Amino acid sequence: MILKSNLTYEKVAGLPYLGLLPKYLRSKLNTLSDLRDRADFVGFRIGAKWFTLINHPETVQEIMALPYKFQKNININLLTGDGVLTSNGEKWYQDRKILQQFFIQQDIEFKKEIIEKSICSVLNNRSFDPIIDFKKLAAELTFKVIAISLFGEIDSLKVDPLVRNTFDAISKFISKTPYLPNWYTNFFLQSQKNNFENNIKILKDHILNLVRDFKNQKNPSSKNILNCFLHHPNYETEATQQIITMILAGYDTTSLTLCWALFLLSTRPKMQEEILHDDQLLERVLKEVMRLYPAGWAWTRDAVEDVELSHVKFLKGSKVFISPLLMHRDPRFYDNPSEFIPDRFLHFVNHKAYFPFGSGARICLGKSFAMLELKIMLKSLLTNWIIGPTDSEPIMDPQITLEGSGFFFTAQRR
Ligand code: HEM
Repeated sequence: MILKSNLTYEKVAGLPYLGLLPKYLRSKLNTLSDLRDRADFVGFRIGAKWFTLINHPETVQEIMALPYKFQKNININLLTGDGVLTSNGEKWYQDRKILQQFFIQQDIEFKKEIIEKSICSVLNNRSFDPIIDFKKLAAELTFKVIAISLFGEIDSLKVDPLVRNTFDAISKFISKTPYLPNWYTNFFLQSQKNNFENNIKILKDHILNLVRDFKNQKNPSSKNILNCFLHHPNYETEATQQIITMILAGYDTTSLTLCWALFLLSTRPKMQEEILHDDQLLERVLKEVMRLYPAGWAWTRDAVEDVELSHVKFLKGSKVFISPLLMHRDPRFYDNPSEFIPDRFLHFVNHKAYFPFGSGARICLGKSFAMLELKIMLKSLLTNWIIGPTDSEPIMDPQITLEGSGFFFTAQRR
């Protein structure tokens, strides 16, 4: 990396061969926050790889605007196939163009109705124990919403716990790939292929059946995401992998955001009441939840050629590390950064330093959908229950998404 302006750069090598790996394994967040506070750009090594942590908002935005020069390098094709979340170059561009149509359709009323219906089917007649494990409930809710809203699936999608566990196992492994050498990652994934594959096969077969049924329908609905791929020469493979991608991208992220929101609201009964009658406050609350706990907490990109930006030049092969979580909690950009203050969004916030849904060409495809879903889920829950805290506070546990150590709350009928 070559600095072109008076911004600051520091390099932190750490131990021979291991770099900062031992520290990083002890506490990812402390290690990264410490790096963040050193300079605008910080070179560091964890295990096999060197990265540059980008702490300068304008440079983050510039990088994210160049998807062909800074590419993703995520090895989860075993699970998703080559879907829009992981593909690069022309394949990604075409995938995104097709899927965007679906998300741009502004049929909010239809989406609202469908989301409400799915939530009711999970919550209705449900009696809660005094202390609830919300992680499970939120996962069930968001999975159902995604399934029904995207491909009209109502009762038949039986998500075997095995499949969910496989998602979790792969997600845990993927979060280690930043510091494992590529050859080991590939080797490991290949060696685990059979274990994972039996479970994934259940899901893939199920989705393949849906995909086939849809094609055979006399009047396939234009509101089903499968409709986007109907004329694709490779319809079955393409539609199946894109649906698995959507589940992977959309369910855990939304479910965790709901859990963090309930955590922050659990000690604020007055705010729980207020957001039921004030949509703008609800919007600010969600923005602030995602400032403090962005579910997609960090990602990397590889420069596939030399790239000259306004303040810095990256050489081909450089790896950049970008984290909304670190930037959203940076005292240079936010007053009292660790405090939950939804009303800060009434005033100016540095938009370049706020990007819970990513930014640029690869910004989250499901952004508006997720916001709508979260608003409806929160309202439905809080209309019926008052959520209270328990002794066990969730502690951040950054894996591929921003997990928490546990989301246990009390729920009392209103
Ligand atoms: C609160 C919930 C969500 C959060 C915080 C979130 C966050 C993100 C972030 C940060 C990215 C960019 C990652 C990167 O650049 O490396 C992303 C991409 C993406 N998200 Fe979301 N997401 C959420 C919900 C959803 C939902 C509900 C869907 C689909 C139904 C979805 C579909 C996608 C897809 C397809 C991409 C990849 C876009 C591309 O690469 O062109 N997300 N999301």
